[in-house]
Amino acid sequence: MAISGSAGGGEKRIIRYGMVGGGPGSFIGDVHRRAIALDGKAELVAGSFSDVEEEVFQTGRELGLDEDRMYVTYQEMAEKEAAREDGIDFVSIVVPNFLHFTVAKTFLQKGIDVVCEKPLCFEIEQAKELKEIARKNGCLFAVSYTYTGHVMAKQAREMIANGEIGEVRVVMAEYAQDWLIESDDELNMQGAWRTNPKLSGRSNCLGDIGSHAENMVNFMTGLKLKRLCAKMDTKVAGRVLDDNSQVLLEYENGATGTLWCSQVAIGNDNALRVRIFGKLGSIDFVQEDCNYLKVTKKGQPTQIYSRGTGVMGKNAGSYSRVPAGHPEGFYEAYGNIYSSFCSAVIDKQNGKKMDETSYGYPTIDMGIDGVKFVNKCCDSNHAGSVWVDFE
Ligand SMILES: NC(=O)c1ccc[n+]([C@@H]2O[C@H](COP(=O)([O-])OP(=O)(O)OC[C@H]3O[C@@H](n4cnc5c(N)ncnc54)[C@H](O)[C@@H]3O)[C@@H](O)[C@H]2O)c1
Repeated sequence: MAISGSAGGGEKRIIRYGMVGGGPGSFIGDVHRRAIALDGKAELVAGSFSDVEEEVFQTGRELGLDEDRMYVTYQEMAEKEAAREDGIDFVSIVVPNFLHFTVAKTFLQKGIDVVCEKPLCFEIEQAKELKEIARKNGCLFAVSYTYTGHVMAKQAREMIANGEIGEVRVVMAEYAQDWLIESDDELNMQGAWRTNPKLSGRSNCLGDIGSHAENMVNFMTGLKLKRLCAKMDTKVAGRVLDDNSQVLLEYENGATGTLWCSQVAIGNDNALRVRIFGKLGSIDFVQEDCNYLKVTKKGQPTQIYSRGTGVMGKNAGSYSRVPAGHPEGFYEAYGNIYSSFCSAVIDKQNGKKMDETSYGYPTIDMGIDGVKFVNKCCDSNHAGSVWVDFE
């Protein structure tokens, strides 16, 4: 696994972006906007922030956009922005899952680069279609798997690639939350669509957070899944989709693992944890304590690696923004993804020969793997929790 990419570097120029989603009361759109603003590499100039007309204008005005760049539909936005000389350089897609495919396709067809939230879409064929349209139209495509942007996740990836814990044998990934413990929790804006199969797809919990855990194992280790066996449960009466799932994993190199994700695990806020055990050592990454990494080398006492100190690898260290002991978190992780993506957009515009995978942001291939993962888990579960080949 080659390690590359960097938060800084490249030509300094402010590019323009637009956003679909992120209207009043929504969660992640505002996080994206603040994260992009951290580095000042891109400026928001257009948006279709909601499917409710007044909300589009409310958000657009709050953000200081020109009236003619607040769009009632994302189709109109793609059409008009593509026709402008000063049109957007990329679009950020932060709408519920069922819209990702059509919105991304609309902008790609206009030749506009895309950053899209996960899970990329519902069907594997749709995911591949997006990749093909992006390729044909020369578009860049990032899937915002947030946690890959954490400096210490990048540190784990770099250490594993350098062989510091030897060949990986066992992985344990978990992502536990407790915000959907009652059926009433489905009444809030975020809960409503996530638990509705029409808007969320075949899975709620696995798609929403299990896909992050799967992605983090792949990001940190580079391991490719060979087969899996999933048990998807619905713990809250009346709910249709899963809210607690467990998956057995087997990788092409023979490593094995377990993935657990839950939205009913009382006492857990946003507890993503990935433990990787190799022949020579182990690494433990805890998202809620993301400025640190627990590292144990065979026969030695466990060490706590602190972000921003002398232990940092060359690549991971380049993403660290403030000195050790000054916590970085969720915004910075998103900021790192966008910073790398903006550098790629500028390099593309400058005609630089480029390999998208070298920029350090999660590419569409990770998005495709995520869609495949969710669908294979559903296939396994529906067949009675049997082993299913990944390819
Ligand atoms: N990577 C992460 O860590 C992370 C975290 C949270 C959410 N997400 C993802 O982000 C996406 C959005 O999640 P959320 O929690 O912010 O949802 P949300 O329900 O809070 O917000 C969705 C927004 O999309 C808008 N919208 C709906 N239909 C639209 C349309 N046709 N055109 C324009 N806007 C439209 C809504 O008005 C709302 O403003 C989901 O795909 C989710 O999986 C990712």
